[in-house]
Amino acid sequence: METILVAGATGYLGRHLVVELARRGFAVRAVVRSRERAERLGPFGSPSLAAAVAEWAEGEVTDPTFVAGLCRGVTRVASALGVTRQKASPWDVDFLANLHLLQDAEREAVRSFLYVNVMHAASGKSLILRAKAAFAAVLERSPVAHQIVNPSGYFSDVGEFLDMARRGLAVLPPDPDVRVAPIHGEDLARFCADRIGDTSGSWDVGGPDVLTYRQIVDLAFAAAGRTGRTLTMPAALLNGAVWTASRLGERPGDLATFFAEGLTREAVGESYGGHRLADYFASLAEGSAVRSEG
Ligand SMILES: NC(=O)c1ccc[n+]([C@@H]2O[C@H](COP(=O)([O-])OP(=O)(O)OC[C@H]3O[C@@H](n4cnc5c(N)ncnc54)[C@H](OP(=O)(O)O)[C@@H]3O)[C@@H](O)[C@H]2O)c1
Repeated sequence: METILVAGATGYLGRHLVVELARRGFAVRAVVRSRERAERLGPFGSPSLAAAVAEWAEGEVTDPTFVAGLCRGVTRVASALGVTRQKASPWDVDFLANLHLLQDAEREAVRSFLYVNVMHAASGKSLILRAKAAFAAVLERSPVAHQIVNPSGYFSDVGEFLDMARRGLAVLPPDPDVRVAPIHGEDLARFCADRIGDTSGSWDVGGPDVLTYRQIVDLAFAAAGRTGRTLTMPAALLNGAVWTASRLGERPGDLATFFAEGLTREAVGESYGGHRLADYFASLAEGSAVRSEG
Protein backbone atom coordinates (compact mmCIF):
# COMPACT_ATOMS: atom_id res chain seq x y z
CA MET A 1 0.00 0.00 0.00
CA GLU A 2 1.32 3.44 -0.95
CA THR A 3 1.15 6.32 1.51
CA ILE A 4 0.15 9.70 0.08
CA LEU A 5 0.39 12.99 1.94
CA VAL A 6 -2.53 15.35 1.27
CA ALA A 7 -2.13 19.04 2.13
CA GLY A 8 -5.21 21.24 2.19
CA ALA A 9 -7.10 18.14 3.33
CA THR A 10 -9.84 20.02 5.18
CA GLY A 11 -10.89 22.17 2.19
CA TYR A 12 -13.83 21.59 -0.15
CA LEU A 13 -11.66 19.85 -2.74
CA GLY A 14 -9.15 18.39 -0.28
CA ARG A 15 -11.85 16.42 1.55
CA HIS A 16 -13.18 14.92 -1.68
CA LEU A 17 -9.60 14.09 -2.67
CA VAL A 18 -8.77 12.34 0.61
CA VAL A 19 -11.93 10.22 0.39
CA GLU A 20 -11.26 9.33 -3.26
CA LEU A 21 -7.62 8.37 -2.58
CA ALA A 22 -8.59 6.23 0.41
CA ARG A 23 -11.25 4.55 -1.75
CA ARG A 24 -8.50 3.71 -4.25
CA GLY A 25 -6.41 2.01 -1.59
CA PHE A 26 -3.92 4.73 -0.64
CA ALA A 27 -3.02 5.19 3.01
CA VAL A 28 -3.65 8.92 3.40
CA ARG A 29 -1.54 11.12 5.69
CA ALA A 30 -3.72 14.22 6.05
CA VAL A 31 -2.19 17.60 6.88
CA VAL A 32 -4.76 19.56 8.89
CA ARG A 33 -4.92 22.45 11.31
CA SER A 34 -7.54 20.70 13.41
CA ARG A 35 -8.29 16.99 13.42
CA GLU A 36 -11.48 17.66 15.33
CA ARG A 37 -12.75 19.96 12.54
CA ALA A 38 -11.53 17.53 9.87
CA GLU A 39 -13.70 14.81 11.36
CA ARG A 40 -16.82 16.94 11.04
CA LEU A 41 -18.64 17.49 7.73
CA GLY A 42 -16.83 20.03 5.56
CA PRO A 43 -17.76 23.14 3.61
CA PHE A 44 -20.38 22.97 0.82
CA GLY A 45 -21.41 19.39 1.53
CA SER A 46 -17.87 17.99 1.41
CA PRO A 47 -17.29 14.83 3.46
CA SER A 48 -15.93 14.16 6.93
CA LEU A 49 -12.42 12.71 6.98
CA ALA A 50 -13.09 10.52 10.02
CA ALA A 51 -13.07 7.20 8.15
CA ALA A 52 -10.65 8.07 5.33
CA VAL A 53 -7.40 9.08 7.05
CA ALA A 54 -4.67 6.63 8.04
CA GLU A 55 -2.34 9.18 9.69
CA TRP A 56 -2.92 12.71 10.92
CA ALA A 57 -0.33 15.50 10.70
CA GLU A 58 -1.78 18.33 12.76
CA GLY A 59 -0.11 21.75 12.59
CA GLU A 60 0.46 25.01 10.75
CA VAL A 61 1.76 24.60 7.19
CA THR A 62 3.07 28.17 7.32
CA ASP A 63 5.60 27.03 9.94
CA PRO A 64 8.60 25.55 8.07
CA THR A 65 9.65 23.54 11.13
CA PHE A 66 6.26 21.75 11.04
CA VAL A 67 6.58 21.06 7.31
CA ALA A 68 10.14 19.68 7.55
CA GLY A 69 9.85 15.89 7.75
CA LEU A 70 6.15 15.71 6.83
CA CYS A 71 6.98 13.64 3.73
CA ARG A 72 9.11 11.06 5.55
CA GLY A 73 7.79 7.63 4.63
CA VAL A 74 5.33 8.78 1.96
CA THR A 75 5.63 7.87 -1.70
CA ARG A 76 3.46 10.68 -3.12
CA VAL A 77 2.14 14.15 -2.28
CA ALA A 78 -1.05 15.93 -3.37
CA SER A 79 -1.68 19.56 -2.47
CA ALA A 80 -5.05 21.30 -2.57
CA LEU A 81 -3.61 23.89 -0.22
CA GLY A 82 -4.45 27.51 -0.91
CA VAL A 83 -6.07 30.64 0.45
CA THR A 84 -9.72 31.11 -0.54
CA ARG A 85 -11.86 32.41 2.32
CA GLN A 86 -9.09 32.26 4.96
CA LYS A 87 -7.44 35.40 6.30
CA ALA A 88 -3.86 34.84 5.20
CA SER A 89 -1.38 35.97 2.60
CA PRO A 90 -1.40 33.85 -0.58
CA TRP A 91 2.39 34.25 -0.69
CA ASP A 92 2.67 32.54 2.70
CA VAL A 93 0.29 29.69 1.88
CA ASP A 94 -0.10 29.14 -1.88
CA PHE A 95 3.57 29.86 -2.58
CA LEU A 96 5.76 29.45 0.51
CA ALA A 97 3.95 26.64 2.32
CA ASN A 98 3.70 24.63 -0.90
CA LEU A 99 7.37 25.41 -1.63
CA HIS A 100 8.48 24.12 1.77
CA LEU A 101 6.38 21.02 1.19
CA LEU A 102 8.03 20.47 -2.19
CA GLN A 103 11.49 20.94 -0.66
CA ASP A 104 10.62 18.29 1.90
CA ALA A 105 9.24 16.00 -0.82
CA GLU A 106 12.51 16.40 -2.77
CA ARG A 107 14.61 15.70 0.34
CA GLU A 108 12.57 12.58 1.06
CA ALA A 109 12.71 11.53 -2.62
CA VAL A 110 8.94 11.11 -3.02
CA ARG A 111 7.88 9.78 -6.40
CA SER A 112 5.33 12.44 -7.38
CA PHE A 113 3.72 15.73 -6.35
CA LEU A 114 0.26 16.73 -7.59
CA TYR A 115 -0.69 20.38 -7.26
CA VAL A 116 -4.15 21.91 -7.65
CA ASN A 117 -3.59 25.23 -9.38
CA VAL A 118 -6.17 27.55 -11.03
CA MET A 119 -6.87 27.79 -14.76
CA HIS A 120 -4.98 30.71 -16.41
CA ALA A 121 -3.03 31.44 -13.20
CA ALA A 122 0.07 32.32 -15.24
CA SER A 123 -1.61 35.42 -16.70
CA GLY A 124 -3.34 36.50 -13.47
CA LYS A 125 -2.58 39.81 -11.78
CA SER A 126 -4.04 39.14 -8.33
CA LEU A 127 -1.67 38.04 -5.59
CA ILE A 128 -3.58 34.75 -5.31
CA LEU A 129 -2.97 33.89 -8.97
CA ARG A 130 0.62 35.18 -8.96
CA ALA A 131 1.42 33.09 -5.88
CA LYS A 132 -0.14 29.99 -7.46
CA ALA A 133 1.60 30.56 -10.80
CA ALA A 134 4.93 31.08 -9.02
CA PHE A 135 4.61 27.75 -7.20
CA ALA A 136 3.51 25.93 -10.38
CA ALA A 137 6.61 27.32 -12.14
CA VAL A 138 8.88 26.00 -9.38
CA LEU A 139 7.14 22.62 -9.39
CA GLU A 140 7.55 22.32 -13.17
CA ARG A 141 11.31 22.48 -12.70
CA SER A 142 11.42 19.98 -9.84
CA PRO A 143 13.13 16.63 -10.37
CA VAL A 144 10.07 15.05 -8.69
CA ALA A 145 7.40 13.87 -11.17
CA HIS A 146 4.64 16.44 -11.02
CA GLN A 147 1.02 16.78 -12.02
CA ILE A 148 -0.39 20.31 -12.22
CA VAL A 149 -4.19 20.39 -12.43
CA ASN A 150 -5.70 23.71 -13.49
CA PRO A 151 -9.42 23.67 -12.73
CA SER A 152 -12.15 26.11 -13.63
CA GLY A 153 -14.37 27.32 -10.76
CA TYR A 154 -15.89 24.82 -8.33
CA PHE A 155 -19.58 24.21 -7.66
CA SER A 156 -18.88 25.59 -4.18
CA ASP A 157 -18.27 29.02 -5.72
CA VAL A 158 -21.32 29.35 -7.98
CA GLY A 159 -23.94 28.82 -5.27
CA GLU A 160 -23.94 32.63 -4.95
CA PHE A 161 -25.97 32.80 -8.16
CA LEU A 162 -28.72 30.73 -6.56
CA ASP A 163 -28.74 33.05 -3.55
CA MET A 164 -29.19 36.01 -5.90
CA ALA A 165 -31.94 34.23 -7.87
CA ARG A 166 -33.80 33.52 -4.64
CA ARG A 167 -33.74 37.24 -3.89
CA GLY A 168 -35.13 37.92 -7.39
CA LEU A 169 -32.19 39.93 -8.70
CA ALA A 170 -29.07 38.43 -10.25
CA VAL A 171 -26.04 40.51 -11.17
CA LEU A 172 -24.16 39.39 -14.28
CA PRO A 173 -20.52 40.21 -15.09
CA PRO A 174 -19.79 42.86 -17.77
CA ASP A 175 -19.73 40.21 -20.50
CA PRO A 176 -22.49 37.72 -19.56
CA ASP A 177 -21.53 35.49 -22.49
CA VAL A 178 -18.14 34.54 -21.07
CA ARG A 179 -18.13 30.73 -20.78
CA VAL A 180 -17.11 28.72 -17.74
CA ALA A 181 -17.37 25.06 -16.77
CA PRO A 182 -17.86 24.72 -13.01
CA ILE A 183 -16.81 21.37 -11.59
CA HIS A 184 -17.99 19.41 -8.54
CA GLY A 185 -15.33 18.55 -5.95
CA GLU A 186 -16.05 14.83 -6.25
CA ASP A 187 -15.47 14.90 -10.03
CA LEU A 188 -12.30 16.97 -9.70
CA ALA A 189 -10.98 14.62 -7.02
CA ARG A 190 -11.45 11.68 -9.41
CA PHE A 191 -9.70 13.64 -12.19
CA CYS A 192 -6.75 14.37 -9.88
CA ALA A 193 -6.53 10.79 -8.58
CA ASP A 194 -6.46 9.48 -12.18
CA ARG A 195 -3.43 11.64 -12.92
CA ILE A 196 -1.32 10.74 -9.87
CA GLY A 197 1.64 8.68 -11.06
CA ASP A 198 5.18 8.86 -12.34
CA THR A 199 4.44 10.91 -15.47
CA SER A 200 4.60 14.72 -15.32
CA GLY A 201 2.00 16.90 -16.97
CA SER A 202 -0.40 19.80 -16.73
CA TRP A 203 -4.13 19.73 -17.43
CA ASP A 204 -6.91 22.34 -17.72
CA VAL A 205 -10.17 20.78 -16.54
CA GLY A 206 -13.79 21.79 -16.04
CA GLY A 207 -17.12 20.13 -15.43
CA PRO A 208 -19.47 18.61 -18.02
CA ASP A 209 -21.58 21.76 -18.55
CA VAL A 210 -19.98 24.60 -20.49
CA LEU A 211 -22.16 27.59 -19.64
CA THR A 212 -22.22 31.33 -20.08
CA TYR A 213 -22.89 33.35 -16.92
CA ARG A 214 -26.27 34.20 -18.47
CA GLN A 215 -27.07 30.45 -18.66
CA ILE A 216 -25.88 29.88 -15.08
CA VAL A 217 -28.26 32.58 -13.89
CA ASP A 218 -31.11 31.02 -15.92
CA LEU A 219 -30.41 27.68 -14.20
CA ALA A 220 -30.38 29.42 -10.83
CA PHE A 221 -33.77 31.10 -11.44
CA ALA A 222 -35.22 27.76 -12.63
CA ALA A 223 -33.97 26.01 -9.46
CA ALA A 224 -35.30 28.83 -7.28
CA GLY A 225 -38.66 28.38 -9.03
CA ARG A 226 -39.09 32.03 -9.84
CA THR A 227 -38.48 34.62 -12.49
CA GLY A 228 -36.51 37.67 -11.63
CA ARG A 229 -34.48 40.52 -12.95
CA THR A 230 -30.89 40.41 -14.14
CA LEU A 231 -28.57 43.34 -14.08
CA THR A 232 -25.37 43.38 -16.15
CA MET A 233 -22.63 45.08 -14.23
CA PRO A 234 -20.90 47.75 -16.35
CA ALA A 235 -17.13 47.16 -16.70
CA ALA A 236 -16.47 50.61 -15.22
CA LEU A 237 -18.40 49.63 -12.08
CA LEU A 238 -16.42 46.40 -11.68
CA ASN A 239 -13.14 48.28 -12.15
CA GLY A 240 -14.35 50.90 -9.67
CA ALA A 241 -15.16 48.21 -7.11
CA VAL A 242 -11.66 46.75 -7.49
CA TRP A 243 -10.11 50.21 -7.10
CA THR A 244 -12.20 50.96 -4.00
CA ALA A 245 -11.34 47.59 -2.44
CA SER A 246 -7.66 48.16 -3.09
CA ARG A 247 -7.89 51.45 -1.16
CA LEU A 248 -9.27 49.51 1.84
CA GLY A 249 -6.17 47.34 2.06
CA GLU A 250 -4.03 44.74 0.32
CA ARG A 251 -6.24 41.76 1.17
CA PRO A 252 -9.59 43.25 0.07
CA GLY A 253 -7.92 44.69 -3.03
CA ASP A 254 -6.40 41.35 -3.94
CA LEU A 255 -9.66 39.47 -3.36
CA ALA A 256 -11.56 41.95 -5.54
CA THR A 257 -8.93 41.63 -8.29
CA PHE A 258 -9.15 37.84 -8.06
CA PHE A 259 -12.97 37.81 -8.31
CA ALA A 260 -12.92 40.30 -11.18
CA GLU A 261 -10.43 38.09 -13.00
CA GLY A 262 -12.63 35.06 -12.40
CA LEU A 263 -15.75 36.81 -13.68
CA THR A 264 -14.22 38.16 -16.86
CA ARG A 265 -12.18 35.22 -18.21
CA GLU A 266 -13.30 32.18 -20.11
CA ALA A 267 -12.50 29.01 -18.07
CA VAL A 268 -13.53 25.78 -19.76
CA GLY A 269 -10.74 23.16 -20.15
CA GLU A 270 -11.28 19.45 -20.68
CA SER A 271 -14.86 18.49 -19.96
CA TYR A 272 -14.96 15.97 -17.11
CA GLY A 273 -17.31 14.43 -14.58
CA GLY A 274 -20.95 13.55 -14.12
CA HIS A 275 -22.28 16.16 -11.68
CA ARG A 276 -24.56 18.63 -13.47
CA LEU A 277 -24.92 22.19 -12.23
CA ALA A 278 -28.72 22.16 -12.67
CA ASP A 279 -28.97 19.16 -10.32
CA TYR A 280 -26.66 20.85 -7.80
CA PHE A 281 -28.75 24.02 -7.81
CA ALA A 282 -31.92 21.92 -7.48
CA SER A 283 -30.48 20.05 -4.49
CA LEU A 284 -29.44 23.34 -2.86
CA ALA A 285 -32.86 24.83 -3.52
CA GLU A 286 -34.69 21.90 -1.95
CA GLY A 287 -32.25 21.80 0.95
CA SER A 288 -30.80 18.34 0.32
CA ALA A 289 -27.31 19.79 -0.27
CA VAL A 290 -25.42 21.98 2.12
CA ARG A 291 -24.72 25.53 0.94
CA SER A 292 -21.85 26.21 3.30
CA GLU A 293 -20.09 25.00 6.42
CA GLY A 294 -22.16 24.32 9.48
N1 LIG B 1 -12.81 27.34 -5.21
C1 LIG B 1 -12.63 27.42 -6.51
O1 LIG B 1 -13.53 27.74 -7.30
C2 LIG B 1 -11.27 27.06 -7.10
C3 LIG B 1 -11.11 27.04 -8.48
C4 LIG B 1 -9.87 26.66 -9.01
C5 LIG B 1 -8.81 26.34 -8.16
N2 LIG B 1 -9.00 26.41 -6.82
C6 LIG B 1 -7.85 26.04 -5.95
O2 LIG B 1 -8.10 24.75 -5.41
C7 LIG B 1 -7.53 24.64 -4.11
C8 LIG B 1 -8.62 24.16 -3.16
O3 LIG B 1 -9.72 25.07 -3.20
P1 LIG B 1 -10.96 24.90 -2.22
O4 LIG B 1 -12.10 25.66 -2.81
O5 LIG B 1 -11.08 23.46 -1.83
O6 LIG B 1 -10.41 25.77 -0.99
P2 LIG B 1 -10.72 25.66 0.59
O7 LIG B 1 -11.99 24.94 0.82
O8 LIG B 1 -10.58 27.03 1.15
O9 LIG B 1 -9.50 24.77 1.09
C9 LIG B 1 -8.20 25.29 1.14
C10 LIG B 1 -7.30 24.41 1.99
O10 LIG B 1 -6.10 25.16 2.25
C11 LIG B 1 -5.96 25.32 3.67
N3 LIG B 1 -5.48 26.67 4.04
C12 LIG B 1 -5.85 27.84 3.50
N4 LIG B 1 -5.26 28.86 4.16
C13 LIG B 1 -4.49 28.30 5.13
C14 LIG B 1 -3.62 28.82 6.12
N5 LIG B 1 -3.43 30.13 6.28
N6 LIG B 1 -3.00 27.96 6.94
C15 LIG B 1 -3.21 26.63 6.81
N7 LIG B 1 -4.01 26.07 5.88
C16 LIG B 1 -4.64 26.89 5.05
C17 LIG B 1 -7.34 25.16 4.25
O11 LIG B 1 -7.24 24.78 5.62
P3 LIG B 1 -8.41 25.14 6.66
O12 LIG B 1 -9.55 24.20 6.30
O13 LIG B 1 -7.81 24.85 7.98
O14 LIG B 1 -8.76 26.59 6.44
C18 LIG B 1 -7.91 24.07 3.36
O15 LIG B 1 -7.47 22.82 3.78
C19 LIG B 1 -7.01 26.05 -3.74
O16 LIG B 1 -5.63 26.07 -3.93
C20 LIG B 1 -7.70 26.95 -4.73
O17 LIG B 1 -6.93 28.10 -5.06
C21 LIG B 1 -10.20 26.75 -6.27
